[in-house]
Amino acid sequence: MISGGMNHISLWKGMSGTSMPNWDDVLKEQERWDIVAYIKTFSGLDKPAKGPIDYKNQIKSSKESIEKGKETFKKMCAECHGEEGRGDGTKKLKDDLGFRTWPRNLTKPWTFRVDNDPKEIYTRISNGIPGTQMPSFADPTSKKTLSDEERWNVANYIVSIADDVKRPKDDTVLKAIRVEGELPDKVDDPKWSVAESTSFYMIPQIIAKERFFTPSLDSITAKAFYNGKEISILLEWDDRTKSIPGDEKAKEIAEGDVLEDSVAIQLPVTIPEEMEKPYFGMGDSVRPVNIWQWKSGKKDASEAIKLLNANGFQKVEQRDAGKTGLRATGIYNNGTWRVVMKRQLATEEKGKDIQFEEGRYTPISFAAWDGSNGESGSRHVMTTWSWLLLKPATPKSTYIIPLIVVVVVFGGELLLARSSRKKI
Ligand code: HEC
Repeated sequence: MISGGMNHISLWKGMSGTSMPNWDDVLKEQERWDIVAYIKTFSGLDKPAKGPIDYKNQIKSSKESIEKGKETFKKMCAECHGEEGRGDGTKKLKDDLGFRTWPRNLTKPWTFRVDNDPKEIYTRISNGIPGTQMPSFADPTSKKTLSDEERWNVANYIVSIADDVKRPKDDTVLKAIRVEGELPDKVDDPKWSVAESTSFYMIPQIIAKERFFTPSLDSITAKAFYNGKEISILLEWDDRTKSIPGDEKAKEIAEGDVLEDSVAIQLPVTIPEEMEKPYFGMGDSVRPVNIWQWKSGKKDASEAIKLLNANGFQKVEQRDAGKTGLRATGIYNNGTWRVVMKRQLATEEKGKDIQFEEGRYTPISFAAWDGSNGESGSRHVMTTWSWLLLKPATPKSTYIIPLIVVVVVFGGELLLARSSRKKI
């Protein structure tokens, strides 16, 4: 945890979902081990506590074991980890020092403290995680205990719910698929199952004031379709809380006031010829951006979506979304928001809106706000620029070259993001 870089491809090499940075580039290996030894003395963990964990009764994963584990999970774990394990529990949790903590989203093993090997999960269930609300289920003095067999079955269940689609990969091009006929404008339209998913890491916004260091959202997954007239983009992201201002249930577990959950897509107004993109924090004076922002609190769908044009943080103009055909709807279910945004490919005000073209690589980035985590305005998470490609129906070899450019440009951005962190 001190070294960071836990086996995931990320702009953020520190601990997932937190502002704890990696120290492997600042401290020597021996220095890091010395700190480990020192930190262990705080809690008395420098002296061996219990004997080593015994794995000899491990139950091999099977359909039956997973089914049994699922039953136990619903009874013993769902109140904190949520019905489907996405950390959307119904309890407000604080750690031993009184700081707000969020239960782990168990469908994202790449954010785990170690990994999701069944033995690791069994260890956490048996021992708990000291200092946090994650209890031990093998402690005879505790109210809630599970037999050895139950702990292995529930560990097998947790391995089975890993959702690899949500794990950001090296490919950061969102490919819109061409279809004939109407585009889906509902989140649960079965057509979405044939679209290609691309997932992106989201990192806290730390460029503009007020900076943000305590994120609760970490990635977003997108899919897209287009036809001769319109483009439709589905955004899916795990959020532990459905935040609607005024909602009693949301108030119980929120950190402070319940603000709205929100998501936004950012696109340049003109597609850059030289692959030169606007500044990724809301554009710059010469390269304006379009921002499509959806918010959770509005009943009327036409009020839930806003169209903004920005030339940097200070110069933001609100425009009429309806004129461009921009609309959006969203649904929350068991820890996941799904929002569809739809717009015409071409609009009337050509100088003010992005005009989508088949076969073109268009820069695209995303931002999201968790309203129960005090996020609004500049306090949010975001991706850097990625690419949206309106994939032609028949692939041509000419698309190989832009792809190489994408890799080079994106790779450069990673380095930039890394070196700017060191200066903070
Ligand atoms: C009272 C709330 C609570 C209950 C009940 C609970 N957990 Fe947890 N669990 C947490 C919290 C909070 C964390 C995150 C601790 C941390 O690392 O900060 C966590 C972390 C975990 C992890 C660690 C993942 C990693 O990072 O390695 C696993 C696995 C896990 N829980 C499984 C379970 C299972 C299985 C059950 C039921 C048998 C359960 N939990 C019940 C609150 C709870």
